[in-house]
Amino acid sequence: MKFFIDTANVEQIREAAKWGVLDGVTTNPTLLSREKGSFKDILREICSIVPGPVSAEVVSLEAGGMVSEGRELTKIADNIIIKVPCTTEGIKAMGMFKAEGIQTNATLCFSPNQGLLVAKAGATYVSPFVGRLDDVGHRGMDLVADLVTIYNNYSFATQVIVASIRSVQHVYEAALMGADVATIPFKVVDQLIKHPLTDKGIQSFLADWEKVEK
Ligand code: E4P
Repeated sequence: MKFFIDTANVEQIREAAKWGVLDGVTTNPTLLSREKGSFKDILREICSIVPGPVSAEVVSLEAGGMVSEGRELTKIADNIIIKVPCTTEGIKAMGMFKAEGIQTNATLCFSPNQGLLVAKAGATYVSPFVGRLDDVGHRGMDLVADLVTIYNNYSFATQVIVASIRSVQHVYEAALMGADVATIPFKVVDQLIKHPLTDKGIQSFLADWEKVEK
């Protein structure tokens, strides 16, 4: 499973990149609104840190506008991919981007049927938002399981990015289900490696090491 980080914060991205396990970045308008500086400069810097795909989202609501915006965004760096919402206009745009060889991330996916359509439209990635589904009383990870099954049934090339991750449990379940990617907020990335028994074990080994003859 690939690990993307879900942030536009350059410091967090630099830190996660040092771990050597970072495969890409997802941003969205909300994440960019939390950072200082022009969004293009921020995206350019992110792309210089992480060689993998960096998602940048369009805000137009109709296909023509999405495509124009997406073309501009791809000029920022070679590894920019275009986040397009799972709407009727969005699937039109995804088809146009595919024809131009521009990679897309179908965002705000909340149903298996949306996932089916964006795969048929040629989206490179789909992002089921599991945390937001959990927030409204659904089981977000059920959507991931459905998408993995549907894509396997028909050998769709679209890759599933588990998004809107809130906990390490989401990451664990994503891996068990065979999701292609998890895009993870820094706070959760940081928790993935932590275990109290590891810390306790280190303390105990260090204490015993003091007793070893050197
Ligand atoms: C995914 O690409 C989105 O940026 C993100 O995961 C949304 O997460 P949220 O529901 O925590 O805003």
